[in-house]
Order: sequence, then C-alpha cells, then structure tokens
Amino acid sequence: MSAPKTYHVKSFGCQMNVYDGERMGELLAADGMTAVGQDDADLVVLNTCHIRDRATHRVYSEIGALRREDGSKPMVALAGCVAQAEGEAARSRTKDIDIVVGPQAYHRLGELVTQAAAGRRAIDTSMPAASKFDALPARRKSGPSAFLSVQEGCDKFCTYCVVPYTRGAEISRPFEAVMDEARALIDSGAVELTLLGQNVNAWGDEAQGLHHLIAALDKLPGLARIRYTTSHPNDMAEGLIAAHRDVEKLMPYLHLPVQSGSDRILKAMNRSHSRDSYLRLIDRVRAARPDIALSGDFITGFPGETEDDFAQSLTIVDEACYSAAFSFAYSSRPGTPAATMPDHVDPATGLERLHRLQAAIAARQHAFNRASVGKTCQILIERRGKLPGQWLGKSPWLQSVHVIGDHAIGDLIDVTLVAAGPNSLTGERILAKAA
Ligand code: 5AD
Ligand code: SF4
Repeated sequence: MSAPKTYHVKSFGCQMNVYDGERMGELLAADGMTAVGQDDADLVVLNTCHIRDRATHRVYSEIGALRREDGSKPMVALAGCVAQAEGEAARSRTKDIDIVVGPQAYHRLGELVTQAAAGRRAIDTSMPAASKFDALPARRKSGPSAFLSVQEGCDKFCTYCVVPYTRGAEISRPFEAVMDEARALIDSGAVELTLLGQNVNAWGDEAQGLHHLIAALDKLPGLARIRYTTSHPNDMAEGLIAAHRDVEKLMPYLHLPVQSGSDRILKAMNRSHSRDSYLRLIDRVRAARPDIALSGDFITGFPGETEDDFAQSLTIVDEACYSAAFSFAYSSRPGTPAATMPDHVDPATGLERLHRLQAAIAARQHAFNRASVGKTCQILIERRGKLPGQWLGKSPWLQSVHVIGDHAIGDLIDVTLVAAGPNSLTGERILAKAA
C-alpha cells in the first residue's frame, strides 16, 4: 500500500470524539496530507464510539461501505473507543482495517500510517503516562465556537458504562497547557470555548478546581463565552457553583446527567448521588444563577427498573425543570457490572419507556423555549440558516436562534427572542440606538 497523500476523518459519538477528530486531522495536515471528502481519501480515519451496542455495530458497516466500486479501498484507521476496546480483535473481524489506534495514542497516528504503508503491524492502544497533547501540533484554525479538551477518563465506574475502561483513569491537563491552547484557539477565531472532559468538573485538584481555570480564561481578551461539559453531580464544587454567579463569560447552562429518578436504580448504577441530593444540588446552582438552563442524561430500562422506578424518572424531568435532556435505552456492554445483573428489562419495554420519557423532555424543552420569548440576549452566529438572509446562532442557554439580517459567522449580536418552537427560537436584532 502506498503512503496516503489525502485523508478524511469521520467522528462518531461525543464531543470529546469531535475534538479528537479535529486534532487527528491537524496532525495529518502537519504531516503534509490534504483533507478531502471520504470518497476521494487515500486514508479514512473512523473515530468511533463504544458507549452503546448500536454505535459499535455501526462501525463495521461503515468499514464495509468504504469499499469502492472497483473493489479498491482506502487505508482504514480504526480510532476512538471501539479501537481501544477491541484492539487486535477488530482486525480479526475484518481485514479491511489497516491501523488500530486508541484515544490515548493518536499522537502516534503519523508513525502508524508509515508502518501500515510499509505493510507492517500498525496498532497502538496503549495509555502512556506522557501526555499525547504535548506531541500534537499547535492549534491554527478554529470556528467561532471551539472545543478544548481539559480532562479525560473517568474514575466513577457507573455500572453500565464502558468509559472508565476505554478512556482510562481520570487525568487533568496542566493549567498552562490548557491556557496556551485557549490562546491559540482565540487567535485563530474562537470567541466561545467549551471545556471538555468525561468528568470535566473533576478537573484539577483540591487546590485548583475547574473554577480556577474558568476564572483565568475569563481574563483572556477576545474570549466572550465559556462553557463546560460533562459534569458529575458529586464533583460540583462550591467554587464552580459560585462561578455561575460571578463569572459573566460563563454561560448559564449546565449539563448534569442524573440517569434515573429512582434511588433504587441510582444505587444499582453506582451513581453515588440520590434523587434528593441531585435536586438539592440544582437548587444551590439555581440560587447562584437563577436563569440557568439545566440539561441531563437519562437511561431507561436499566436492569431491575420497574414501572414504578421509571415513573420517578418521569417526575424528575418536571421537578428538575430541564431545558433539554438526552435519553437512551439501556444497552448492555460486555465487561461492565450491569451486564451480569439479574432482571434485565425486555428491550421493547426499555424503548417504550424511552419514548414516553422523550415526550416528557420535549414538553419541558418547548416550555423552556416559550418562557424565553420576550427576553433579550446575545447570540453567537454559527452558520447560515436555510432561508435567504437567515442565520443560526446560539443563545446563552444553548438554544438555536434564527435571525434575519446582514450578519457573519462569529458575530455576537443582541436580539429579542420573539417566537419559540420545540427546538429553536426566532430572534430579532436589536439595533443600536442612534446617539
Ligand atoms: N446504555 C445506555 N446509555 C448509556 N450511557 C452510557 N452508557 C450507557 C449504556 N450502557 C449514556 C449515559 C451517559 C451518556 C453519555 O450515555 O446517559 O451519560
Ligand atoms: Fe460513564 Fe459514569 Fe463516568 Fe459518566 S460518570 S463517563 S456515565 S462511568
């Protein structure tokens, strides 16, 4: 196989994967390769997700679909969490995979490409102690809203979840490394940064928590907005809650997964919080920032979940007053403690509960959007809308807002929210008053 000159990175799953995908692209570009569409690429990197069974299965059909009409295929790199979980076994499932590289080893992608081109074994799923970030090229290009990975891995071991196994133990990137990358992203066009981590609110240590990092970022000229995701309820430090009151650039949005409204199920999930402690935590966050938009994650049909347990997930949607939430039917993952628990729920029941939960969440989201009508806020323009002259931006509460006018990507404009739908709002620009 000859050395590839063009590449295409396709990412699945979470925002951390989107970030990793961008960095792999930058690395290949720094090696002299050119980004092209998937059908034209000499090298296709599939940056995969292992969180649910369906996501994993999809990878293998994606790989099959990479075969071209003349029977040829690009060099294929399996990256991300499926690569980490399956390692060598992935290559015995299909010989169409040339490279296997885990999420902690992708700084070696260039070397692995060279090895694969020379017909050598190209697999790295190690989790080296040295940071891969130090070996990656500096950031040079950014849209107005950029992801910045500050924390990786998870020590929580929720009983359904593969993340502690695929992403490894919690690590925090050093303060200065994060600040350097933030400055580079701002210099290359970012006005909003979303700090990423599987457990991002565990960033730092006792002396220096996430709120210290946020306070330092707040001082960077050119940066207008700070967000962070995903947080664990047990790591919401007082300082972080206070930052929602004190730091203007910190957006009023908190993604705080709860997973279930039933204490019995939360215990079986090893979530180490209760329904009540979660609700009290939200009260404290709302006391600091009354307008905060709260989102969450839910799983339906966890082993042992009864109709009564599920009813408590439905009621917590209303009690917590979510502005949005993600919900998933339980997927049994090999190697996790939940996989061998008794009383697995019939998948059809899990799915039926999921649909009911999603209806409750959609109603909440619509109500939250309707309650926003009449408010004024800034929106960050991220892309063009479908209609002529229409643009799409994000409100501080992470709602999509349509606005008509003469704008550009990256503009921060003042609007009045004038109408609300289930998934988006309409804004009208507030024109500066003549002096
Ligand atoms: N089955 C279904 N959903 C899961 N999640 C994590 N593991 C599983 C699983 N085995 C969900 C959780 C988590 C989100 C990223 O994915 O809700 O917060
Ligand atoms: Fe998975 Fe739980 Fe860690 Fe989230 S906190 S990544 S659900 S183990």
